Amino acid sequence: MKIAVAGAGLMGCGIAAKFAAAGYDLLVYDSAQPALENVHKRCDAVFGELLQGGALNEAQCHEASRRIRLARRVHELADVDIVVEAIVEVLEAKQSLFAQLEQHVAPNAIIASSTSGFTPEALARHMRKPERFLVAHFWNPPHLVPLVEVLGALRTAPATLTTTYDLLHAAGCEPVLLRKSVPGFIGNRIQFAVLREALYLLRVGVADAETIDRVMKQSVGKRYARIGPLEGTDAGGLDTFLVIATHLMPELSKDESALQLLRERVSRGERGRASGKGFYTWDEGRESWLREQRQLLLRDCQ
Ligand SMILES: NC(=O)c1ccc[n+]([C@@H]2O[C@H](COP(=O)([O-])OP(=O)(O)OC[C@H]3O[C@@H](n4cnc5c(N)ncnc54)[C@H](O)[C@@H]3O)[C@@H](O)[C@H]2O)c1
Repeated sequence: MKIAVAGAGLMGCGIAAKFAAAGYDLLVYDSAQPALENVHKRCDAVFGELLQGGALNEAQCHEASRRIRLARRVHELADVDIVVEAIVEVLEAKQSLFAQLEQHVAPNAIIASSTSGFTPEALARHMRKPERFLVAHFWNPPHLVPLVEVLGALRTAPATLTTTYDLLHAAGCEPVLLRKSVPGFIGNRIQFAVLREALYLLRVGVADAETIDRVMKQSVGKRYARIGPLEGTDAGGLDTFLVIATHLMPELSKDESALQLLRERVSRGERGRASGKGFYTWDEGRESWLREQRQLLLRDCQ
């Protein structure tokens, strides 16, 4: 199966590296030359991490890197079987790229979007052949977080879903098929519900960032990798959870005000790791801590 990735940023390179490490040849397209020039550096960093974790050997890393070729124009993707789109999260930009892709790729080639939140209906609205379109929402970084949420629009052909699902499975991802579309899909809805509550707790001064993160990591965080929220509710007793939820849920943060903390920091130029400061200071010690956590995640994936 010939694969292309359109958009060579954080996710595009991560997705390309994931497929290349699994043995697939692929083309990576981006409209910006500097992004293309960075593709091999970014993918090699992923292979380096896989090498360090023992998931690939030196020869396999070299092979994986060699499988990735660059495309400067959309028409170079003419003979691929599937294009995974990973460009900026701007609806019109994605729709316009799909229109270009439809002019150049084969009639049956699949077009998959890695959007974080646009519905497949909105993305496929102007497509000539929406049967070939679906969302395949990867997680960052794809070589450490295998889940991919797969969902179609109303007019997506069943074969588009099954072919993509099978490809993802064969590439070592963990695809899940959603029955219907909802903004944010499943994972981001849960992730952002947790984030809203964490921001609220920080904002009203219940604890500092380190303590809030520690509580999460040492309690539900430990459990969630093995036992999901609904399994945990069954295990704890629906009647017990009903009593707790009845008095606790009305207390949880519900409005947008928790976002104020993020707005303040971003307006001060504090963007987290990218700017060296966010809720934490990103010095060499924290970078080295993150590298260590990623190796532990990689070990858990194997
Ligand atoms: N960052 C994450 O954690 C994450 C996780 C899951 C999904 N996503 C989704 O993946 C997609 C990509 O996100 P990212 O974080 O990799 O973004 P990014 O900014 O790192 O990369 C986007 C790339 O797209 C290129 N691009 C922009 N417009 C283009 C066009 N019209 N044609 C071709 N290339 C174009 C840019 O040059 C850039 O290289 C978004 O839809 C995002 O919502 C992101």
